[in-house]
Amino acid sequence: MRAAVFPETGPASVLRLVDRDLPLAAAGEVRVRIVLSAVNPTDTGTRAGRGVPDGVAPPRVPNQDGAGVVDALGEGVSDLEPGDRVWVWDAGYGRANGTAQEYLVLPRHQVVRMNDDVPFEVGADLGIPALTAHRCLTLVADGPARLAPGALDGRTVLVAGGAGAVGNAAIQLAKWAGATVLTTVSSKEKAALALAAGADAVIDYREEDVAARVRELSPGGPHVIVEVNTANLDLDLDVIAPGGNIAIYVGGKFSVPSFKAMLKNVSLDFVLTYTTSPEEKANAVAAVAEAANAGAFRVGEEAGLPIIRFPLDRVAEAHEAVENHAVGKVVIEVTAP
Ligand SMILES: NC(=O)c1ccc[n+]([C@@H]2O[C@H](COP(=O)([O-])OP(=O)(O)OC[C@H]3O[C@@H](n4cnc5c(N)ncnc54)[C@H](OP(=O)(O)O)[C@@H]3O)[C@@H](O)[C@H]2O)c1
Repeated sequence: MRAAVFPETGPASVLRLVDRDLPLAAAGEVRVRIVLSAVNPTDTGTRAGRGVPDGVAPPRVPNQDGAGVVDALGEGVSDLEPGDRVWVWDAGYGRANGTAQEYLVLPRHQVVRMNDDVPFEVGADLGIPALTAHRCLTLVADGPARLAPGALDGRTVLVAGGAGAVGNAAIQLAKWAGATVLTTVSSKEKAALALAAGADAVIDYREEDVAARVRELSPGGPHVIVEVNTANLDLDLDVIAPGGNIAIYVGGKFSVPSFKAMLKNVSLDFVLTYTTSPEEKANAVAAVAEAANAGAFRVGEEAGLPIIRFPLDRVAEAHEAVENHAVGKVVIEVTAP
């Protein structure tokens, strides 16, 4: 079978295609034929040698996310059938084998069945972006641990960067759960995407006074802010509701105007999807699977997330597209659907 591999860390040009033996599914494992492998910033970071440390050295097959079809079952796996459509999560975390290869073996719990009418493009967008977004939306102490329709009724969420992959997922999941969703973007094109994702209001932070607009749209302030840029913290503290939570999912060093935060008893929360607790992860997987199967989680330009496709032999270009801040979801076509 064909696999993309990086023999050492470095620029995208270290990626190459190799032939490998078909992996065997051991007890409790599932072999998936990968149709689409998706590229996230975490994948390019790992390939470049500045990823989340997981104790695994190259050679590695890149990419955490993907969707495909069950190909073979290891002993003891009886609740899936060959031919079932599935999506996978954290495929290459703590493991040398990600999704940029034709066949991938994973423990049963990392393989999630999806309905026959769920596009592979949706399945390939769920692992990193949607599970991260789910955790950001459920870290409020008195809020729901698992999203479902109505779970966020009466809540307002502010999503920074609503045209990004995680931002798009946060908008879609929050809307599915009943929240009012405000979002910020940097251009008209991104505003159109965030609206297509379902946001109730989109604020162009290059053109508008964000704090004034948020106050106008949500006089009490958002209860949760899903934050992609820590430079927004001052603004977040200005507009957030008393007792609100700011879920920060990017790295970096920053200072906190703690008096401002104290005045409102605000919580700053940090989210890394890989290291959420097993219970948080299970809740996220269950909720995201439910939303996808219900048709409530969509992708493509009409859902605010254009799909950008590359064949497997152009895996390096796919990584470069993500590094160059492609707007949308970069996917690699690995095998025919
Ligand atoms: N902690 C976790 O578990 C986790 C999970 C997934 C992703 N991430 C990280 O989150 C970031 C976004 O991931 P993504 O897949 O959503 O990327 P993406 O699709 O490229 O979207 C990023 C969006 O965020 C906005 N943005 C504003 N300030 C930014 C900043 N300082 N850094 C990055 N983006 C900024 C941009 O929108 P505007 O132009 O409209 O401002 C852009 O559309 C990446 O740094 C990624 O590594 C972390």
